Amino acid sequence: MSSLLFFIVLHGVLAFVFAGSSSLDIIARKTIQYEDNHAITFKEQGIWNYSTMLIREDLGLLVLGAREAVFALDINDISVSRSKVLWKVTEEKQKECTSKGKHPDIDCHNYIRMLHQMNDSVMYICGTNAFSPTCDYITYDNGQLQLEGKQEDGRGKCPFDPFQRSSSVMVDQDLYSATSLNFLGSEPVILRTSPITLRTLLKSSWLNEPNFIYMDAVPESEDSPEGDDDKIYMFFSENAIEYDFYNKLVVSRVARVCKGDMGGLRTLQRKWTSFLKARLDCSVPEPSLPYVIQDVFHVRHQKWRKSVFYAIFTSQSSSTDQSSAVCAYNVTDISNVFSRGKFKTEVAVEMSDVKWVTYSGDLPVPRPGDCINNAARTSGIKSSMNIPDKTLQFIRDRPLMDDAVHPITGKPLLLKRGPLLTRLVVDMVTAADGQSYPMMFVGTANGYVQKAVNYDGEMHIIEEVKLFESEEAIDVLRLHQNQLYAGSASGVVQMPVSNCSRYSSCLDCVLARDPYCAWDVPAQRCSRFPASTEHAKSNLIQSLKDGDATQCPITAPIEPKVRTLVLGNNIRLLCRPDSNLAQVNWNLAGKPLPYSNRKYTIYNDAILISNASSADAGRYTCVSVEQAKGKHYTKTLAIYDLREEVAVVVTDKIKTTLGIPNEIYTTSSGLIKPEEPPSVSKNQASESKWIAMQVALAMLSIMMACLLIWNLYMGHISPFMCCGRQPIKSHGNLPRMEYKSAGNDVMDSKPQMVSLCVTTNSNLEVTGFHRNGDPSTGIHLFKYITDESEI
Ligand SMILES: *[C@@H]1O[C@H](CO)[C@@H](O)[C@H](O)[C@H]1NC(C)=O
Ligand SMILES: *[C@@H]1O[C@H](CO)[C@@H](O)[C@H](O)[C@H]1NC(C)=O
Ligand SMILES: *[C@@H]1O[C@H](CO)[C@@H](O)[C@H](O)[C@H]1NC(C)=O
Ligand SMILES: *[C@@H]1O[C@H](CO)[C@@H](O)[C@H](O)[C@H]1NC(C)=O
Ligand SMILES: *[C@@H]1O[C@H](CO)[C@@H](O)[C@H](O)[C@H]1NC(C)=O
Repeated sequence: MSSLLFFIVLHGVLAFVFAGSSSLDIIARKTIQYEDNHAITFKEQGIWNYSTMLIREDLGLLVLGAREAVFALDINDISVSRSKVLWKVTEEKQKECTSKGKHPDIDCHNYIRMLHQMNDSVMYICGTNAFSPTCDYITYDNGQLQLEGKQEDGRGKCPFDPFQRSSSVMVDQDLYSATSLNFLGSEPVILRTSPITLRTLLKSSWLNEPNFIYMDAVPESEDSPEGDDDKIYMFFSENAIEYDFYNKLVVSRVARVCKGDMGGLRTLQRKWTSFLKARLDCSVPEPSLPYVIQDVFHVRHQKWRKSVFYAIFTSQSSSTDQSSAVCAYNVTDISNVFSRGKFKTEVAVEMSDVKWVTYSGDLPVPRPGDCINNAARTSGIKSSMNIPDKTLQFIRDRPLMDDAVHPITGKPLLLKRGPLLTRLVVDMVTAADGQSYPMMFVGTANGYVQKAVNYDGEMHIIEEVKLFESEEAIDVLRLHQNQLYAGSASGVVQMPVSNCSRYSSCLDCVLARDPYCAWDVPAQRCSRFPASTEHAKSNLIQSLKDGDATQCPITAPIEPKVRTLVLGNNIRLLCRPDSNLAQVNWNLAGKPLPYSNRKYTIYNDAILISNASSADAGRYTCVSVEQAKGKHYTKTLAIYDLREEVAVVVTDKIKTTLGIPNEIYTTSSGLIKPEEPPSVSKNQASESKWIAMQVALAMLSIMMACLLIWNLYMGHISPFMCCGRQPIKSHGNLPRMEYKSAGNDVMDSKPQMVSLCVTTNSNLEVTGFHRNGDPSTGIHLFKYITDESEI
């Protein structure tokens, strides 16, 4: 009990230390709905559970295993199915399965659970085959998939139960598999099918009700001065043996075996002599039971010491408030725990009770669990069969390491509350700054893929894309040449890693902090980086770590839209922000709308003014404020002139016009961006008295602008008011508003960006206001009034 208590208390202490530096409530910057995902899908009528994938680059195929079917899909366009082969359960097998109490329509089918490439022509395939796991060989010749019909016994390679997790890897034609050996699923095994078949001992200190997640080989023999062997690493969760706990406590593990293991001669005969395991730690900054591993991705590096395993963990508390984390582990760190760490050992405390404590005695030679290396060879140990009994007995009884493996940087790269994360892949992306960033694509239990990065400890979810129409879990994820493939119960989806054209403006493109995209200044669009055509890097804006969009050019102001106010009606004004992280503020005639007023209903993409009255007429401005690294970026998204059908009094217009927060741009360096003068309306030569009025208005506004500058200069007014909003907190997150969904209303047209106001918390320059002395202000005001005079 005490060790677990310590564990939880330690987590609590860490929580205190890390409080504020990370939050579980991280949300994706953009949400791409299913209708907008532009993904390619594949599904076939009557076929379900597309959960196994094998990429055959040599054949240009995605080989897909589903329930009772295998498909060969075009890797470039998975909607094209080149070939298909069915592998159904026989009637006899189905009957047998049903008679054992399994559900005929759920359990007694053949779920393809394993697909490996053996050589250029042959693949190995296994399915649950109605609780009677079976394997076969499959070929792809002349555009045809073909099962050889060998029907090998699949026990120990593939689970009986289609709902049970398992993992496997093919290394030099030897199959390593981790699954259950029996019908009940109670006999776990890690098996190597090879000329000398090896397996784990059936002992709870080796495997204790495990849930197998992942395995892969690491070529540790490369450049090894010790003459070390290659290793197979496996990841699973199991019931802890090392903590006394009133209940079952699940812990995550990493284990490994040596590729050259041949088993012992007497002790551990045909069993692993190199099986070592350690606890895998991914501590979240909140007191909680340890999170449980769900998936792993191996980012291989040419130098194996620089390879990294990324893993998803989910909370194990039964509470409805579920959360997930992603942690990354340096292969070198894992390897060191096994090759240098201390062991745990069992001691009897009371009559029948045992406890696992640090082993502090002398270790036998060679070190338990070590692969056969140069030192062993020189002492005459040429294979694991020569390992002395002392070493083998040690490993038989003590496969658990004392030290846990801790993540790189000591904490999770991503923490997320809400629908659980299920699968991940990681792409190393070289960005414009020449650095390489790990981009995590994480599938969720409700059909989304979260595209997440961690910039120097800062978690950022660039976007979340809904890949499946229904709320179904992503069961498999693969990455190949900038394409992502996701499988679920109902189908498969192919999606490019990024679609930069989704970022509509420079601000949107740069604040996305997407390493695949950069704003192309001459072309005025967000383009893929690195571009296929050679671009001068100086023409591209990308700021990943800093999220600094101050280099963005200023775009032309947007035109106000005129809306007619019908008394007593409900009026909807649309305004959709580019980002979920942006806060949207509505102003009426330059003043913030009183949201507490029941008259207004705020949606995430609109505002509803109910029971309109004459008092509701005026200019409505929708402004979004997005924060990145302490800077606030303000952008006017839409301007509406809400008018009653009768004429509006001129003095109201003056107020309204002055309320426009256009083209104010303060950079931290204090430089003013040159901007294009607003175009003058061609319709200006109308009635001369109107012109006189306009000139007077322009003069008046210049005077008021001067007054404003003076006030600002003297510090009477906060410069934030230039943006037509309340002063912004310079630190911390912006308070998020509770927006309601506006349903599926379609926006009439997407508002263009009009203005940009940047303030840094360190340097509140007001230089941007100097431009008010520019005669273009007058022309600008002039233009708006001309517009109004047209009616
Ligand atoms: C591929 O592997 C299969 C199964 O091990 C074997 O029968 C076949 O001869 C191999 N083919 C080639 C071309 O190596
Ligand atoms: C892993 O550790 C090794 C040795 O300490 C180091 O060279 C390597 O850069 C590390 N890799 C990462 C991704 O931190
Ligand atoms: C197979 O798909 C069905 C939905 O069609 C789902 O209910 C079931 O859970 C899936 N089975 C497995 C083993 O994933
Ligand atoms: C990218 O998104 C745009 C719309 O935002 C869409 O028209 C285009 O087809 C998408 N491209 C790809 C490759 O999905
Ligand atoms: C609408 O507003 C008018 C006064 O402006 C009021 O008399 C009327 O009751 C309101 N109607 C509703 C449905 O609230």
